[in-house]
Amino acid sequence: LNYRVPQTRKDIFTTLVKGLQRLEYRGYDSAGVAVDGCGKDDKNSICLFKKKGKVKALDEELYKNDSLDLDMELDTHFGIAHTRWATHGEPSAVNSHPHRSDKNNEFVVIHNGIITNYKELKKYLVSKGYEFESETDTEVIPKLIKYLYDNRESNCVSFSTLVERVIQQLFEQSVLSFNALHSFICSRRGSPLLIGVRCQYKLSTDQIPIQYNSGEINTPQCNLNSSPNQFCPLNAFLHSDLAIIEHTNKVIYLEDDDIAAVAEGKLSLHRMNRSAGEDPVRVIQTLQMELQQIMKGNFKAFMQKEIFEQPESVFNTMRGRICFDTSTVVLGGLKDHLKEIKRCRRLIIIGCGTSFHAGVATRQILEELTELPVMVELASDFLDRTTPVYRDDVCFFISQSGETADTLMALRYCKERGALTVGVTNTVGSSISRETDCGVHINAGPEIGVASTKAYTSQFVSLIMFGLMMSEDRLSLQKRRQEIINGLRKLPELIREVLALDQKIKSIADELYQQRSLLVMGRGYHYATCLEGALKIKEITYMHSEGILAGELKHGPLALIDYHMPVIMVIMRDACYIKCHNALQQITARQGRPIILCCQDDSEISKMAYKTIELPHTVDCLQGILCVIPLQLMSFHLAVLRGYDVDCPRNLAKSVTVE
Ligand code: G6P
Repeated sequence: LNYRVPQTRKDIFTTLVKGLQRLEYRGYDSAGVAVDGCGKDDKNSICLFKKKGKVKALDEELYKNDSLDLDMELDTHFGIAHTRWATHGEPSAVNSHPHRSDKNNEFVVIHNGIITNYKELKKYLVSKGYEFESETDTEVIPKLIKYLYDNRESNCVSFSTLVERVIQQLFEQSVLSFNALHSFICSRRGSPLLIGVRCQYKLSTDQIPIQYNSGEINTPQCNLNSSPNQFCPLNAFLHSDLAIIEHTNKVIYLEDDDIAAVAEGKLSLHRMNRSAGEDPVRVIQTLQMELQQIMKGNFKAFMQKEIFEQPESVFNTMRGRICFDTSTVVLGGLKDHLKEIKRCRRLIIIGCGTSFHAGVATRQILEELTELPVMVELASDFLDRTTPVYRDDVCFFISQSGETADTLMALRYCKERGALTVGVTNTVGSSISRETDCGVHINAGPEIGVASTKAYTSQFVSLIMFGLMMSEDRLSLQKRRQEIINGLRKLPELIREVLALDQKIKSIADELYQQRSLLVMGRGYHYATCLEGALKIKEITYMHSEGILAGELKHGPLALIDYHMPVIMVIMRDACYIKCHNALQQITARQGRPIILCCQDDSEISKMAYKTIELPHTVDCLQGILCVIPLQLMSFHLAVLRGYDVDCPRNLAKSVTVE
């Protein structure tokens, strides 16, 4: 959004399209934009462009359109843009956002989340004669605004009041943006929304007061600039992501049920009611982030860049938290709750996808170091089972984005039952980090590739650091703690050694990429490695891939084994070595040709392998970090060889904010 900074329409499109491109990594299937000031005679009209497929296709469409004067200068203007990941209705231009109130585009809307009561609303609106164009839930929003507008009690009812009335009708989480006649309203519920502000002058205050009333939203109200000068330019960038960093590093995080309005270049914040103890201001924060962190640099894909960043990201997770001289670990976000955690009856670790695997990977060492029972749960299943949770449980919510809907629902479920909630996230200011009682920020840096890599290894290290912190006063565990702390110190260096195997891994991928299936097998600490490796492979290569617990081999999977079925095995020198050896024999006895991830110089295993990937050795409970990296690299090379877009796998989204 811009105000009184004359810009050409081309500049506006460029800003919007770039914003969408920065979001491409999250996964989407169609895109659209709406801008105002489009009519030749009537500057108040809004135009819409929507396209199935990539943002690039939408961009080309904008420039092809002869009716648009791209060089026309506009001085007050709004634009909204959206990438859609289909939930209700197939991917198509008509189903993509923005959606409109009527053929004249009086009100246009974009939205994130699911409107659970859309069917009832749609039925009602259809009965009142409103015609729907799409199969989406979102379309009820502009139609409802139009309905309330057409039936308003007087001409004095403002756009902001209409919007507020609409929001009251929606049950579910949603982020809404509205655009009409030069005023713009958005509300946050559930999905993240932040506002970047760019001012000409230094800000006189970093606090934006909230207006509380149940009636009119008074726009404009607060002046963000040091000068009270009404003509100070203000740009406001509303985005669901930190990608606004290329425009400004000053941001306001909206809370659930906050409403932000922009009109005449002024921004104001509003809530219906003030609850006890609620902060009556939103603070303008400075993002500690550089643009290059969200750029690919010389890498082919973000995922590849992130795999190679792991020596640094893992180091950053530990930075300032482990004192190697005294063997102490302090996680600042947990220290005040440590006593309470030590008294708990059990730990429950909850997550989805890769984040769930980080829980599986560390369960055993957490049981050993905390001497507590540890449950690891997929958030969706945990909720489906209405799992019993008690006040003396401690529940960990692992989430890179901090926004995954299933994990967030599970968090609210546990909170309602009085458990202590702990967030382990990579996104400062995310819903999970804000709603948990305490937590750990994994400090891995922004992760853009949809297939999570560096977040996994940093979650892994964070959970181990938690175990070390819990066991600091256990005499019997000191030797073990020391061994792990020494292992952590050497970890970044060993990760570099593993990354140096990239070409070897690529040559194995050259042999495998035309296969239909790939099994990944291991046990003990490496069950999680296998689950995570198989997930990476299926996510970006679309090959069928299964992570198999070697202990279950004879209970089913052995039937799949023959000369042709590609199998990767993880066999490291740990407590499961002999048992893995047995599984290996059962595989080779059936003409299987396993590719084995093993310790350097394990000649015995090498003899039985079709191929080996030899890895440096570390402490058993950290070995999973070194073993998962070759599988991350393998999936990357397989996907490139199969000709797929590594960062934008089909049907997947980086941050799944719908249940
Ligand atoms: C999606 C992503 C996965 C991710 C999972 C959990 O499915 O595609 O890569 O592991 O969500 O995401 P979270 O942000 O909660 O870690």
